[in-house]
Amino acid sequence: MSSVVPTLKLNNGYKIPAFGLGTYKPIEGVEESVKHAIDCNYRHIDTAYFYGNEIEIGNAVRAKIEEKGINREDMFIVSKLWSIFHEPDKVEYGCRMSLNKLNLEYIDLYLIHFPVSLAYVSDTELWPSDEKGIISDSVSFSIRDDIDVLDTYKAMEKLVEKGIVRSIGVSNFNIEQITRILEGCTIKPVVNQIEFSPGVNQKKLIEFCKDHDIVVVAYTPLGRPNLQTKTPDFIFDESVIAIGNKYKKTSAQVALRYLTQCGAIPIPRSQSKERIQENISIFDFELTPAEMTVLDQFQKDRSDFIDVQKLKEFSTQY
Ligand SMILES: NC(=O)c1ccc[n+]([C@@H]2O[C@H](COP(=O)([O-])OP(=O)(O)OC[C@H]3O[C@@H](n4cnc5c(N)ncnc54)[C@H](OP(=O)(O)O)[C@@H]3O)[C@@H](O)[C@H]2O)c1
Repeated sequence: MSSVVPTLKLNNGYKIPAFGLGTYKPIEGVEESVKHAIDCNYRHIDTAYFYGNEIEIGNAVRAKIEEKGINREDMFIVSKLWSIFHEPDKVEYGCRMSLNKLNLEYIDLYLIHFPVSLAYVSDTELWPSDEKGIISDSVSFSIRDDIDVLDTYKAMEKLVEKGIVRSIGVSNFNIEQITRILEGCTIKPVVNQIEFSPGVNQKKLIEFCKDHDIVVVAYTPLGRPNLQTKTPDFIFDESVIAIGNKYKKTSAQVALRYLTQCGAIPIPRSQSKERIQENISIFDFELTPAEMTVLDQFQKDRSDFIDVQKLKEFSTQY
């Protein structure tokens, strides 16, 4: 059964499907998952240089375009510039690496993956380290704080001018960091991709993005459910399960629906055929304001880590 997914209009006129497939981090099996997702009507696929799976994603997308006669314009492929390519002279190089792996003529949306720059050592050293780079006992990598991420962004704008990227945006940027981009850019970011689930309070940042016509894409939208530890709480909570029962939906579907009603685009990852279909089947019911309030109650403040701390956390979790 295929699902009808609405689109949202970006501030540059392009449309983005309001639901996508996350692909971090498996490489094995990801080509099959993406193909199955396209069969289930997913048209928005999220990847990144950092994920190391762009070849498999590109293979799946090109195969399905051919097999199903889908227009390339109807697919929406997202990739991200990793932090080792932030030096303005390296931005096009980083982008072309992704483009070549995807084997596509253009990327629909290209994001700065993280607002922190790392030293470039080689294309494959994603967490480069040296003595100066030690920032804690357990995590060591070389931060390049001499690179201004606004300059990185300006180099991203050139990719749009060259036609190899249709839209540009950011990921993991807070209000202050987006404000700097808005003050210095020529092409506004269309998207900020951030961690957002019923368990993570991003209300202020989402409000800010809305005010500036920037679409929020919600990563880790299910909080990576774990059956053993029964986390996150909103997936296993009786009140959420009861809301789901009312609509014949699972708590995961209720959570994803909640995010769309908050105005965000969820990009859950799954490698299970059933759950790929389950996750996208959320556009045939609507949560009431009272049910939205039930979900709101799981929100915990996670806001405003300073950049390096957030990156440190990211490097150990992702
Ligand atoms: N921009 C960034 O910095 C950033 C950071 C993190 C993630 N992302 C993107 O966001 C995507 C999603 O985030 P995520 O992968 O971290 O977390 P997630 O989507 O919240 O969770 C993925 C996990 O949930 C399970 N799952 C999927 N659907 C389910 C369902 N209906 N019921 C129960 N379990 C379900 C999956 O297992 P099965 O495969 O077994 O279904 C998988 O283990 C990533 O894949 C990536 O594309 C971006």
